[in-house]
Amino acid sequence: MLGPMTGAPDLSQRASSLAPSATLALAAAAKEMAAAGRDVVNMAVGEPDFDAPGSAREAAHAAVDSGQVKYTPAAGLASLRAAAARVLREERGTTHEPESIVVCHSAKHALSHALLALVNPGDEVLLLAPVWGSYDEQVKFAGAKPVHVAPSPGGQCVPDIDAIRAAVGPKTRGIMLNSPSNPSGYVWSEGELRALGEVVLEHDLWLISDEIYARLVFDGARHISPASFSPELAARTIVVDGASKVFAMTGYRIGFLAAAPPMAKAVASIQSQVSGCPNYVSQKAYEACLVEDPPEVASMIAAFDARRRLVAKGLGDLGLTLPEPRGAFYAFPDLSSHFDDRGAPGLCADLLEAEAVATVPGDVFGAPDHVRFSYALSEERLTEALRRLGRFLGSR
Ligand SMILES: Cc1ncc(COP(=O)(O)O)c(C=O)c1O
Repeated sequence: MLGPMTGAPDLSQRASSLAPSATLALAAAAKEMAAAGRDVVNMAVGEPDFDAPGSAREAAHAAVDSGQVKYTPAAGLASLRAAAARVLREERGTTHEPESIVVCHSAKHALSHALLALVNPGDEVLLLAPVWGSYDEQVKFAGAKPVHVAPSPGGQCVPDIDAIRAAVGPKTRGIMLNSPSNPSGYVWSEGELRALGEVVLEHDLWLISDEIYARLVFDGARHISPASFSPELAARTIVVDGASKVFAMTGYRIGFLAAAPPMAKAVASIQSQVSGCPNYVSQKAYEACLVEDPPEVASMIAAFDARRRLVAKGLGDLGLTLPEPRGAFYAFPDLSSHFDDRGAPGLCADLLEAEAVATVPGDVFGAPDHVRFSYALSEERLTEALRRLGRFLGSR
């Protein structure tokens, strides 16, 4: 007989050791406050406020109306795999062919499947702090151990290649890279990427290169994929991308990874058993974006750039120092001089309570002196948030 639905559930170690996404939880709390009538400025979530491009929406409608909404191959539609491979070749200088591509339910899913295909229990994966919090949990979920490598001193979140090399040990299986970076907005230089590639090849590691913010680069910064450097490095690199950020398609849940065909095949097999093919409608919408490169993208990028300048200047005017944000849509100032003994989580909770501005404490990213501000909001809302932040900091 089933017992009452109360009390501590009898969970697997895997489930009980997993921390749910702090960013999504904070964003949900902010949405609840807004639903209760507060005028919340939600800078917690990494979600563009734009609608998906027109071509994506039309393709989604057409897909539904076509009557073709059925299972696709587990690795995704051949036409989408071909489009993704072409975009990587043309925009990032790689040599990927369609058989290298596995369309996944999101970039998050692609990352998680890549790790499941890559690591064994006891392996270590290097995470380059400050680092998107989901990497830690995904590495653990796959049975491996995340090892953080601190950036160079100075608070600018510049990678420390010597520290990365020194962190490689006998159990290291791979390195996760995210450039442009969530949370710091840092864009790795070609020299830094080449040096990282050398570490990967010297030690027969794998590199997971999360390039979801590839097109969101500003101020002359250039996104470079390490998979473009040499056939040897390409063979050890798994590139991850998705529609959420650059096409403002977070709710479509669609992305892909690109890897050497044997690795891609392994990921597709995992996917075939774990979740099956990605959503047909979203695949068609994503394909439309990759084939046509919607005109809306250029204006979204220009809007992000204007917002970036506004937020960087506004935070600077409040006397805060931050790594120069040159990519993605986050600013990551050091707010430690305003902390009480509860650190960044206390400050973010107080800011939400007092001024209804939602942000994410740097602890989530392994950088406890910092706070992450997403600037994927209108300039008007950002100006309002900066005004409230100024009032808040002045009152502390
Ligand atoms: C670095 C990074 N990778 C991946 C993702 C997830 O993207 P998706 O919506 O495709 O799962 C995010 C979203 O916040 C991200 O910041």
